[in-house]
Amino acid sequence: MHSFDKDPDHVAVEQVLRYARQRLLMDPIPLDGPQTEEYLTSAAGQTITAAGLGAPRAMELFEHTLAPACLSTDHPRYLSFIPCAPTREAAAFDVVVGASSVYGGSWLEGAGAVYAENQALRWIADLAGLPECAGGVFVPGGTVGNLSALVVARHTARNKATAAGTGARPWRIAATDNAHSSVVSMAAVMDAEVCGVPVDEKLRLTGPALRKTLEEHGPETFFAVVATSGTTNFGVVDDLESVADVCEEFGLWLHVDGAYGGAGLAAPSVRHLFNGIERADSFIVDPHKWLFAPFDCCALLYRDPELARTAHTQEAGYLDVLTKATEWNPTDYSIGLTRRARGLPLWYSLAVHGTDAYVEAIESTLAVVRHAAREIEARPYVELVREPDLSVVVFRRLGWEPADYQAWTDRLLAAEFAFVVPTTFRGETLTRFAVVNPHTSKEDVTAILDTMA
Ligand SMILES: Cc1ncc(COP(=O)(O)O)c(C=O)c1O
Repeated sequence: MHSFDKDPDHVAVEQVLRYARQRLLMDPIPLDGPQTEEYLTSAAGQTITAAGLGAPRAMELFEHTLAPACLSTDHPRYLSFIPCAPTREAAAFDVVVGASSVYGGSWLEGAGAVYAENQALRWIADLAGLPECAGGVFVPGGTVGNLSALVVARHTARNKATAAGTGARPWRIAATDNAHSSVVSMAAVMDAEVCGVPVDEKLRLTGPALRKTLEEHGPETFFAVVATSGTTNFGVVDDLESVADVCEEFGLWLHVDGAYGGAGLAAPSVRHLFNGIERADSFIVDPHKWLFAPFDCCALLYRDPELARTAHTQEAGYLDVLTKATEWNPTDYSIGLTRRARGLPLWYSLAVHGTDAYVEAIESTLAVVRHAAREIEARPYVELVREPDLSVVVFRRLGWEPADYQAWTDRLLAAEFAFVVPTTFRGETLTRFAVVNPHTSKEDVTAILDTMA
């Protein structure tokens, strides 16, 4: 099947590129929506067969049956969870990455790609104010980024304890309830324990509360503190400066999870909220969230990458040619060995547009959310739960029960008008807009609010 003679007219390649071109240039984009398994079974049937369906039929199935059963996360009114709104350049370049068989794990095999990815990482490190020696790798997502960083934190803490002769094996991570679900989940993978720190009245992790928790449980039992720069539910940025002070005092690793909100570093109007981030030992931001790259892309940075290399490098005779080399091998800085050069779509888009365009696009989404907040305040039937820090706004519809929120969500989706799901906070059902798409307009959020009257 690899032979060119099998398909001399390159029908499959032509079809795939035609579809990709059409989808990349589509305007407007349909929201589309999920279908039941019964529907898909009857419409698509058995797609994997011994003889194969052939390119035209397989593409037709994808284009007309499977793709429309997937929500367009880049639709301007997809405001649930954290949307994904790649620039056309980033999304188009993903096709190139797939077509090029570039191996992004080592300098030996992918020097050009690694060089480019590292420049994109450097831009992010500079936004955060990390030192020149900082470096890292693009991993599939925030979950893997958090896991990879926490593995380094524990490895470093245990090595320190061994060197000091204390024999301590710290197993705890300090974080608030508002930290992303992946922190608890990845702690379970590591057989570590997350110790909850109470938040302040602004829902932030702060230094004084952190100190109290550490003292209550014994600071020597902790190997890391996870602060969040942009919580998923509310977009809250923790008080990084006071948290960094306490981490420094106790010699604890500070990991900052900016998977969603880290992009705000580029926006002058909110940059002050991130003060203290330059003191992080590790930091993540997902370009597939608010930095306009396609799935799956998380930038993971370390203040001292050598600590990460020690924790993550895989050793084997067949890898010696890589591990004994002095060049930068991205695979040495995270979980996983084989890696797609997944930072390249971001690199290409940054190279094409320049960083000023990113600043402008991020600020434009912030302006839309501030508009949404004012609209919510002006309407008698809705109420802001908290003034937004970043580009997420959470609000309640007065008088609605959970079932009303769900019915409203279902109605909007069935009409392909918008995708806005409920959330909960402290037992109350609410709803939220997460705006990371520069195509989401003030008119879009106004129109959605109108449907709640
Ligand atoms: C703050 C935060 N951390 C981590 C994650 C997990 O990232 P991913 O879904 O890319 O694994 C998310 C996802 O929304 C997030 O918002």
